[in-house]
Amino acid sequence: MGPYALLRLARGRLEPGIPGQFFMLEAPGRLLPRPMSLCLARPRELAFLVDPVGPGTRALSSLETGDRIMVFGPLGNGFRLDVRSPLLVGGGIGIAPLPYAAGALRAPPTVLGFRTRHHAEAASLIPSAEVVVEPTFVTEILPAGDFDVLACGPEPMLEALRRIVPGAQLAWEAPMACGYGACWGCVVEMGGQLRRLCVDGPVINGGTHGSPVGPLL
Ligand SMILES: Cc1cc2nc3c(=O)[nH]c(=O)nc-3n(C[C@H](O)[C@H](O)[C@H](O)COP(=O)(O)OP(=O)(O)OC[C@H]3O[C@@H](n4cnc5c(N)ncnc54)[C@H](O)[C@@H]3O)c2cc1C
Ligand code: FES
Repeated sequence: MGPYALLRLARGRLEPGIPGQFFMLEAPGRLLPRPMSLCLARPRELAFLVDPVGPGTRALSSLETGDRIMVFGPLGNGFRLDVRSPLLVGGGIGIAPLPYAAGALRAPPTVLGFRTRHHAEAASLIPSAEVVVEPTFVTEILPAGDFDVLACGPEPMLEALRRIVPGAQLAWEAPMACGYGACWGCVVEMGGQLRRLCVDGPVINGGTHGSPVGPLL
């Protein structure tokens, strides 16, 4: 899908969890697993959208049919789905959890933004979405009205959204080594307190806590 890989795994006995939750995926030969948001939950399959930005994600993107990997999850806090009027907002690889969310919320209005047309090929995962490519930003095409925003994307996009929609549910990122609260590798500062993003996030209510600052360690 453009520069991204859609990694489709046999589901086995894994539960998909809630949209916005993540799994730790460990490719063969790699020491540490990498956090990945669940992108699609099909009856026999879990799929992840992977941006190959470094050694771990490149190893995940180059898996071949029949390869076996360690998968651990679902982990963290997902999006609250009991909202009146959902609007999904995604930027770049941050669209990863939104196809699953769109399915769970029965195709809510969705706006997606990408750096280039090549990156925007991944928008086909949510066929009904409105899509923009830079220099237009996704925050410029938010529909008018009183929406409950669920968003994932780069930090500047989340910051801008938090200012426009203070109560937005925002999925943040920090490098994670364990994914379940044991290593303190994902500590960020939120509202003056140190928090582990893997257990207190990744989805955080924008208005309640402010933005995570970090990583600190
Ligand atoms: C909860 C969560 C869900 C995620 N979901 C997805 C997903 O669905 N698809 C996807 O492609 N990626 C996702 N990521 C990001 C992904 O985990 C990182 O890109 C990956 O761990 C990088 O590993 P690497 O070995 O390929 O590269 P590294 O060599 O480890 O990193 C490459 C570059 O990215 C930076 N970096 C690494 N991890 C992060 C991070 N978490 N946040 C910001 N910068 C980072 C490094 O500083 C470095 O500059 C998610 C991250 C989190 C925390
Ligand atoms: S990733 Fe280990 S504590 Fe959060």
